[in-house]
Amino acid sequence: MATAIEVQTKAFNSLREYMSFLDERGLLHRIDVPVSKDEEVGAICREVFDRDGPALLFNKVGNHTTPLFVGGVATRERYSLALGVEPTIQAIAAKWASAYKNPIKYQEAARNEAPCKEVVIDNPDLYADPFPVPKWHHLDAGPELATLHGVITMDPETGWINVGNYRGQIFDSKRFGCYLVSIPVRHAKLHWDKWKAMGKPMPVCVVLGMDPYLHLTSVSAVPYGIDEYDIAGGLRGSATQVVKAELSDLLVPAQAEIVIEGYMPTDKLWPEEAPFGEFPGYMGQMVKNCHYIEVHKVTHRKTPIFQGTYEGRPPSESTTVRSMGRSAALWEHLRRAGLAGIKDVSVTPAGCAGFHANVSITKSYHGHVRDVMFHVWGHPNLFCKHVTVVDDDIDPWNPFMVEWAIATRVQACRDVITLGGAKSIDVDPSQVGSRRGESDLLGIDATKPLEEYARDGSEYPAGTDPLPETMEKVRKRWKEYGFKD
Ligand SMILES: Cc1cc2nc3c(=O)[nH]c(=O)nc-3n(C[C@H](O)[C@H](O)[C@H](O)COP(=O)(O)O)c2cc1C
Repeated sequence: MATAIEVQTKAFNSLREYMSFLDERGLLHRIDVPVSKDEEVGAICREVFDRDGPALLFNKVGNHTTPLFVGGVATRERYSLALGVEPTIQAIAAKWASAYKNPIKYQEAARNEAPCKEVVIDNPDLYADPFPVPKWHHLDAGPELATLHGVITMDPETGWINVGNYRGQIFDSKRFGCYLVSIPVRHAKLHWDKWKAMGKPMPVCVVLGMDPYLHLTSVSAVPYGIDEYDIAGGLRGSATQVVKAELSDLLVPAQAEIVIEGYMPTDKLWPEEAPFGEFPGYMGQMVKNCHYIEVHKVTHRKTPIFQGTYEGRPPSESTTVRSMGRSAALWEHLRRAGLAGIKDVSVTPAGCAGFHANVSITKSYHGHVRDVMFHVWGHPNLFCKHVTVVDDDIDPWNPFMVEWAIATRVQACRDVITLGGAKSIDVDPSQVGSRRGESDLLGIDATKPLEEYARDGSEYPAGTDPLPETMEKVRKRWKEYGFKD
């Protein structure tokens, strides 16, 4: 039954504006007692994510005075509040589609109008404030500084700026990692390759505490060459205010809380990084030869807020942001490919927002389902190894209905295809360590087998649900029947 839905129209220019908005609605919980930054913060996040709980502001993390914010967009409700749409996938997808169609060019602010420059630290220490960095899981290799943030890099040939989200382990007081998964290839890695070819280190800024739109775009497989600042502008409905970095020509969000500036060496890599708790819900592997950042300067607001998130099995903030953003990106990919009849796309949260895609279609030609599967597998930045295609009467976000379609429309020998030799991500524990990065593919055609029935000279049986007009009548009279809602 329908419940009252708040659709707000406010646009947020900074993280703190968004936090105040959550606070006014009782969606922000402050933890004022001291908590240990190692494991305790992570365990609290695990419990809160499992309870679908509020966003969290930790005010006393270890010896730090800088507060730590987690979970701003951890639920679909908060994700849609940030976007100013109803908490339905359709509304979220429509908002993304409109931002892709109508990006808003970023605007450059003067240095003295940029709060992120209020304080400048020339000799930063990653173990001191403003960096209350947890060791999130008990088996982590160390404190993980960058978990939900923006890594800003530039294509030296075109000047195109990318905002990505790649984790970073603190190695020492001035250096931290930037883990760029190799398959699918990350945009910052493509930039790094170009800087390397020029024989120069790559300028980089890592931004902590951005407005929600920048966060959502940074993790959302925005296609190469498309400016994430402009897509964020499209989501916000107004231009992203940026300001020139102190040490390079990079542009950083002017309203950010904290900006770390430095360089990524292109002639050397850090020998060992990780393991860390990963989004599939298992510990990852140690990474040899990891990209890393040498920190030269930090700028921040007068009273900065540090932002991060706990990575782990679904449900989590990471799953929510990736599931929504990747579903929108995959839908955009299918739209750009010109595929007919796509009704809805779900890169499912329980599939760790990466491994499973469900796509509903209005099937209209022989081979339609196969076309959809191959285009999903062909997305250059996604790795959905299992694809289920359903008819347009099935909601791909509803696992119950998808399973019903599989139960009643699938014959394995006819409708299931498997293929080997595909790309994957190296934290998929279904694959043994030495074979990580490659995967098998599974496609399930869970649409009604209409062609098979036609060849058989019969029709697929009609469903048992009442006629839509009868249902409408019944819903209208619901209270008359004595039901409350
Ligand atoms: C919480 C979180 C952590 C992530 N960590 C990493 C990471 O360590 N390395 C990585 O390559 N991608 C990571 N990702 C995925 C990328 O941020 C995402 O695929 C993004 O679209 C990449 O940006 P790009 O397409 O501009 O390269 C993470 C995503 C989230 C939500």
